[in-house]
Amino acid sequence: MSEFANNGPSKAFVLKSASSPLSTANSLNSKIVLSTASFEVWRTYIYELCGIYFQDNKKYLLESRLLKRINYLKLNSFEEYLKFLKFNPQARSERRYLYEAITINETFFFRNQPQLDALTSKIFSETIEAKRKLGQKKIRIWSAASSSGEEAYSVAMVITDMVKPKYPDMEFEIVGTDINEDVLERAKNGVYKEYAIRNTPAFFLKKYFTVDGMNYIIDPKLKNMVKFSFLNLYDDIKMRSMTYFDIVFCANVLIYFDTKSKIKVVSHLYNSLNRGGYLFIGYAETLHGISKAFKLESFPKTISYKKE
Ligand SMILES: C[S@@+](CC[C@H](N)C(=O)[O-])C[C@H]1O[C@@H](n2cnc3c(N)ncnc32)[C@H](O)[C@@H]1O
Repeated sequence: MSEFANNGPSKAFVLKSASSPLSTANSLNSKIVLSTASFEVWRTYIYELCGIYFQDNKKYLLESRLLKRINYLKLNSFEEYLKFLKFNPQARSERRYLYEAITINETFFFRNQPQLDALTSKIFSETIEAKRKLGQKKIRIWSAASSSGEEAYSVAMVITDMVKPKYPDMEFEIVGTDINEDVLERAKNGVYKEYAIRNTPAFFLKKYFTVDGMNYIIDPKLKNMVKFSFLNLYDDIKMRSMTYFDIVFCANVLIYFDTKSKIKVVSHLYNSLNRGGYLFIGYAETLHGISKAFKLESFPKTISYKKE
């Protein structure tokens, strides 16, 4: 029985039991097809919810991912699932699974070493000096679109090992946010597989992980340094509450947005930074044509976007 049946679905969305002939049809994925017209409606719906824009060549990807939810809920069509999300009172909880179905969460520790080097070679010392002049002690770092936490924990390792010993009076607050609650739970658990640690320098691996069978468990000290929570980068109200950050990472997520949503999200990220703060995006991403507000600053093998 589905979770919606447990919650008592509305009359319009009575879900079929596993033994119904319709559910047998549902299990044959080929019977349920995402038509071109339905794809248009779906991509507009998803875009308006979270800024992710499915290009024409991603129709089959969207179809196969949504189909898993449709089958699970024992619904009969893409249209029925969309109606459920739009009009059913239980749709708020289903939205979680929609986000889990449509997001790509690829990440790993030390994915962007040059960015971490930029932090340790210049950005932390510069930021700390500026803070001290203001009589402040706290540096705030945000991993926006953190996925399962590897980026945020990589920063926490570098701080603990290379920054904190030099500046013991300073405090470091790291926040990780994502729209996918499943990956956020994994981030909070801090248990990883070999795939996630494959790029981790041996020194950090030895120092900050405990190996238990196939699992790599992150040091609880690092877990205490990072707070993870749900945040939709496309939610204007919530984004306005993300303020006073010194360093923001928003890597490998803008690629899923179109130009209009990139402009909107980047303008929120700009506002979230303190003056003198830095934004980092992914290797393959650029703010060219998206924002002129930042000053580009070059570091070996990477660039950052500075709010002057
Ligand atoms: C490919 S991962 C990147 C993870 C990490 N930043 C990195 O570079 O390794 C992209 C993440 O963006 C998240 N995401 C996509 N759309 C989002 C949105 N509108 N708000 C917040 N997070 C979003 C996805 O759930 C996913 O975890």
